[in-house]
Amino acid sequence: MKRLLVLGACALQLCMTADAQQKTNPDDIKDKMQWFADAKLGIFIHWGIYSVKGIDESWSFHNKKISHPDYMQQLKGFTASNYNPQEWADLIKESGARYAVVTTKHHDGVALWDSKYSKLDVVNSTPAKRDVLTPLYTALRRDSIKCGAYFSLIDWSYPDYPQFLKDSNRYDIKTQPARWQRFLKFYEGQMEEVMTKFNPDLWWFDGDWEHSAEEWEAAKMRKMLTTHNPNTIINGRLQGYGDYDTPEQNFPVTRPHYHWWELCMTINNNWGWQPQDTNWKTPFEIITIFVDAVANGGNLLLDIGPKADGTIPPEEVNILKELGAWNKKNGEAVFNTVAGLPLGHFYGPTTLSKDSTTLYLFLPGKTSGQTVIKGLSNKIEEISVVGNGTQLNHKVVGKISWSPVPGLVYIDVPENVQDKYVTVLKVKLDKPVKLYRGKGGFLTNE
Ligand code: GLC
Repeated sequence: MKRLLVLGACALQLCMTADAQQKTNPDDIKDKMQWFADAKLGIFIHWGIYSVKGIDESWSFHNKKISHPDYMQQLKGFTASNYNPQEWADLIKESGARYAVVTTKHHDGVALWDSKYSKLDVVNSTPAKRDVLTPLYTALRRDSIKCGAYFSLIDWSYPDYPQFLKDSNRYDIKTQPARWQRFLKFYEGQMEEVMTKFNPDLWWFDGDWEHSAEEWEAAKMRKMLTTHNPNTIINGRLQGYGDYDTPEQNFPVTRPHYHWWELCMTINNNWGWQPQDTNWKTPFEIITIFVDAVANGGNLLLDIGPKADGTIPPEEVNILKELGAWNKKNGEAVFNTVAGLPLGHFYGPTTLSKDSTTLYLFLPGKTSGQTVIKGLSNKIEEISVVGNGTQLNHKVVGKISWSPVPGLVYIDVPENVQDKYVTVLKVKLDKPVKLYRGKGGFLTNE
């Protein structure tokens, strides 16, 4: 949260610094990144003891809204009594998501698997009394959903971890290096457990900001994970040793220049289950956010926060189902596509087929009448509505015979073809897309 403020204040500058620090070369990882680039939608799952009282995950004790012992009392209420991992996986599948990322351990240090390094896990310390991750990963893999492991580098509950509450640390690494070494052994051990038990397709680290790459031994960790599974993908929160960037909650206004990026976002305002938070985003809002991320070359990692008994709140179920129905109809314009036209050509999100001979236009809300594309030099072979195939008429306006500047393409969008959330038009081009990006002057070779 502290970090969010900083991000808000100088997002661009930070992003650029983060990118400059990136140690991985995009050319070396592009093969393993391909499924991620094609996936577009992932579901984030924040599940932990914080859902017992419905308070902020880990931050509630760190920020002293509740004492650490009171926070830990929640261990007694984590039952997972209605937990049905196959239902979770099937719902994720139904949403259209291609991957899921689950909190194996948050900053509170409570592991959701049976850890031999600590008793602070849901097997030994909660009435759930079982490893809740193994059956989830099995169910997800059964549904061909790629498996991601959120893993907090920070562990504010571990006695040998230096940071604890917002205004009190346990010790300083510089004065007690051996103590930090003990923590490293523990954290690397737990990471290795997650690695060997679940072999994640993707690692979603969090909390790297509390220490440097050297202190976290980030290079060594990356090596361990990629040696075990050369195809595993690592998010951008490992102090420069990740593969892609992770803007959080805040939608990038200009197109990020990273090769791969993923916006993680909550459906209400919180990651975990919080009953007082009824600020649910609507399906329209989620779908437009999703489409905009994809149009800008990114993915959406959409969060759900199940209750302590394993029930997914009905509002979240509804969003995932609505999103799924929309994806089922319009998925060809989203999955396996690439970022669309740069700003200026169309007033809305667009995507392109990989060979760039098909352009998809997204029309949020109810648009009837005409919509327009500017600066498209191609010939159009056909325009149709995705999901129902209706052919649409178009007209080229203002094309001057002697000028290289293409005319404006006006497309008729009748009311009866519209989707209840976002209508998608498919524009078949004669060849790979060719754009005119000049100023329209008459003596121009642009
Ligand atoms: C932040 C928070 C954390 C949350 C994460 C999800 O970094 O520390 O509570 O899990 O964002 O992106």
